[in-house]
Amino acid sequence: MAIRLGDTAPDFEADTSEGRIKFHEWLGDSWGVFFSHPKDYTPVCTTELGRVANLKAEFEKRGVKAMALSVDPVDSHMGWIKDINETQNCSVDFPIVADPDREVATTYDMIHPNALNNLTVRSVFIIGPDKKVKLTLTYPASTGRNFDEILRVIDSLQLTANYSVATPVDWKQGGDCVVVPAIKTEDIPAKFPKGFTEIKPYLRMTPQPDK
Ligand code: BEZ
Repeated sequence: MAIRLGDTAPDFEADTSEGRIKFHEWLGDSWGVFFSHPKDYTPVCTTELGRVANLKAEFEKRGVKAMALSVDPVDSHMGWIKDINETQNCSVDFPIVADPDREVATTYDMIHPNALNNLTVRSVFIIGPDKKVKLTLTYPASTGRNFDEILRVIDSLQLTANYSVATPVDWKQGGDCVVVPAIKTEDIPAKFPKGFTEIKPYLRMTPQPDK
């Protein structure tokens, strides 16, 4: 069954390029990004994994752990990681789950047989420290994902979790935020000392609270 926003991310235990891992235990209190790739030694996947490795500092800054999945076994992952490091000028040091029996991929509904037979599509799950799924994304095999967008969503999710704001269309770091509807207009000044603009009673903007 498909995993929906607000569901608990299914726990699993699996072999990975970093040893055997129990997913929830490995996540601990961190945020997580769990993303799948169709297969080892494929070109688009190679660029994606290199990008995630090179974004290590950005993920760490946000308290996010990254984990990938590809249906091939660990020995294949280990050889592929050498190629990724060589060609993408990086050092992959996050785990890549080996899932030759497709157990984890099936649990996470990462196999879409009408798109790609018996291989995983490009799924992304952002998971909060409460282990709940905060975002799902599905891309076709032929389109590499935009990890800047994934970082942008994490920034938005973390702002909502910490400050009761949402982020408007095309929001970027430093841009004004939306005060969530649950907050009454009369309560805004105490909660948002930087001020606010009421464009409509339901559309109240405030400067990004943590800037
Ligand atoms: C790729 O990662 O390049 C890829 C994988 C499966 C199908 C098409 C492209």
